Amino acid sequence: MPDNIIGWSQDNGIVTLTFDDPTQAVNTMNAAYLASFDRVLSKLSEMGDSLTGVIVTSGKPTFFAGGDLHDLLAAMPDDAARFSASTARIKGQLRELERIGVPVVAALNGTALGGGLELALACHYRIALNDPAVRLGLPEVTLGLLPGAGGVVRTVRMLGLDVALDKVLLPGSQFGPAEALALGIIDELASDTEDLADRARAWILAHPDARQPWDGDDAVPGGHTRDDAVQATLSARPARLRAEHKGSPMPAQSAILAAAVESAAVDVDTALAVETRYFVELATGQISTNIIQGTFFDRQTVRSGASRPQGFPRHTARSVAVLGAGMMGGGIALTCALAGLQVKLKDVDANRARRGRGYAERVLAKQVSAGRRSQDDADAVLARITATGDLADLTGCDLVIEAVFEDPELKADVLAEIIEVVADDAVIASNTSTLPITGLAESVDRPADFIGLHFFSPVERMDLVEIIVGHRTSDATLAKAFDIVRQLGKTPIVVGDARGFFTSRVILARLLEAAAMVGEGLSPISIEQASLQAGYPVGTLALLDELTLTLPHKIFGQFRDEAQTTGATFVEHPGDAVLGVMIDGACRPGRAAGAGFYDYTDGRRAGLWQGLEERFRPSRPADDLQELIDRLLFAEAIDTARCLESGLLRSTADANVGSILGIGFPVWTGGAAQFVAGYPGGPAGFVARARELENKFGFRFACPPSLSAVAPLTI
Ligand code: NAI
Repeated sequence: MPDNIIGWSQDNGIVTLTFDDPTQAVNTMNAAYLASFDRVLSKLSEMGDSLTGVIVTSGKPTFFAGGDLHDLLAAMPDDAARFSASTARIKGQLRELERIGVPVVAALNGTALGGGLELALACHYRIALNDPAVRLGLPEVTLGLLPGAGGVVRTVRMLGLDVALDKVLLPGSQFGPAEALALGIIDELASDTEDLADRARAWILAHPDARQPWDGDDAVPGGHTRDDAVQATLSARPARLRAEHKGSPMPAQSAILAAAVESAAVDVDTALAVETRYFVELATGQISTNIIQGTFFDRQTVRSGASRPQGFPRHTARSVAVLGAGMMGGGIALTCALAGLQVKLKDVDANRARRGRGYAERVLAKQVSAGRRSQDDADAVLARITATGDLADLTGCDLVIEAVFEDPELKADVLAEIIEVVADDAVIASNTSTLPITGLAESVDRPADFIGLHFFSPVERMDLVEIIVGHRTSDATLAKAFDIVRQLGKTPIVVGDARGFFTSRVILARLLEAAAMVGEGLSPISIEQASLQAGYPVGTLALLDELTLTLPHKIFGQFRDEAQTTGATFVEHPGDAVLGVMIDGACRPGRAAGAGFYDYTDGRRAGLWQGLEERFRPSRPADDLQELIDRLLFAEAIDTARCLESGLLRSTADANVGSILGIGFPVWTGGAAQFVAGYPGGPAGFVARARELENKFGFRFACPPSLSAVAPLTI
């Protein structure tokens, strides 16, 4: 631990405190911060009347990052007392700073999110560098937490309950400097660091009596809840929040609401204590641990290359041939052009290729009209995409991404012809969603350079890419492919070459489970409700309609065929029979056909199909909704555990990140592997519940041996 992380410089009576932790890339509220802050406060008070003002700034490119996520990840219920004490100490220091008796200005030379902004809120005035890269906000809610260093209390007192809750605390938005100024969380903008320091000094000189409004005579405890308009909406807030989150677990949002409302009704020091209580409850709870693990640490692990083979130099692609200018090809071409690659977009003829380029044109035009991109920039991106029907135009490309129709023979043909013209060492990738990579590799004479790059639709918006390693794909190619996905700004997970790869295979387990529930006569409303309460973004039956019922039915059939050829055990799924009846018996294959589990009018969902009861069984509402929720979550989590056991997945980080980003596994769980680790009672608790489901619904809920072993059956 460094002795001191706060630099001290003095210009007459004005002291500038520069936060700069030598052991970390960013400043955090760690033990060194606490010790240094204590010393600085004593030194300031020793100055007595000679102190005329304080400027708080940072020696890093960012201002301050906030709480240390390692500490927050590790916090368990037993740590509550220790956590309460350290949070109270942080708050005590900030209170002392804001009551030091001289003006205190935060000179925000860079991003201040979470704890960083809370530190700034404890200053009397905030000036930020007017740089679009600077981000300001309180995003704690996105990690299942609340701002515990006074952020709730101070924003509510500064902005009022409604604005603080709806604009800052509940959405957890990150603002640019101009937006933050308009909102009132900062007070002034500076053009550069020199201007920042000048303005800070000028403000101090002009405001010798500065103090926080809540420490002044005008501080009215409860004033913020006396406002009639606020009062009128207050009682509806909990129900509104629950409706917005569709009944899924949201402890952070509820705690923020409670802390904001309760803290507004009492004096500021009591308010800070109320905030601490809610913060500690969240920080030591399981859900924040899950979210921090799955969305922060695992994402970092994945992106930093834990599944990338070591020892290969970093690779950069320069020119890509995208084969097939359809829905996926158009999106892939745009994504590559956005990352600066030269793109040759090829289809059967130039006309069709141009149609694919038109997709990029439309997306870019929308971004320009929304003010998110300049016209010049959009023109430059588009100029990098050449639409062509001519193979010769692809000469020398160092990357191929094939996205023609999902037909193995067609893919084999286009791959065989392309290999003749592209660079000798080009990475050859297919965006197939279902075809084994090892089989496709047979059509190229360099199978070691062949790999799967499974993008998700819409490509330019979806962060995940599943990299599929064929049996003959070399480590060098995998390393290059990994670097290419990172070059495109996306998050790569690495998976083995088995049917459905990872994401399509695991989501199949949930889709079939929901279909099985229909077959049992469970009310479709209950099934959709269970999906939403589990935390999935849409109802599973609605999702089935979107994807088409034919797709999972076909993939499950392929599993069956494969098992027959290899002699592997195959377990029928009652959900598959339901899909069969819907597709063949009722001619309702999904939304595209205008009929699925739902009816559709002009392509819009128009209620659940009333004929389900006749086709299957009289429908009954679920008497145990939690059981439906568990069936959906466990179906995916158990199959993920199988993928980990068989080596199809290389790490739990890939499992968590892939399941959250690729198939909408609920964020509050931290991902399909973290759901097992964080289940009440840990993995043993998970196995015990899985056994109950297995006893009731069959072998598909059997945990793989490595997982079952954590909870041996006792006789
Ligand atoms: P699509 O039907 O929209 O586009 C396919 C394109 O390939 C068409 O423009 C067609 O003219 C072109 N094509 C056909 N023969 C060709 C040839 N010989 N040379 C050049 N182009 C040719 O299909 P989509 O949805 O874009 O899918 C493409 C691939 O991506 C498929 O393998 C699919 O399984 C996979 N995929 C699809 C996803 C999706 O959400 N649609 C997601 C991930 C992968």
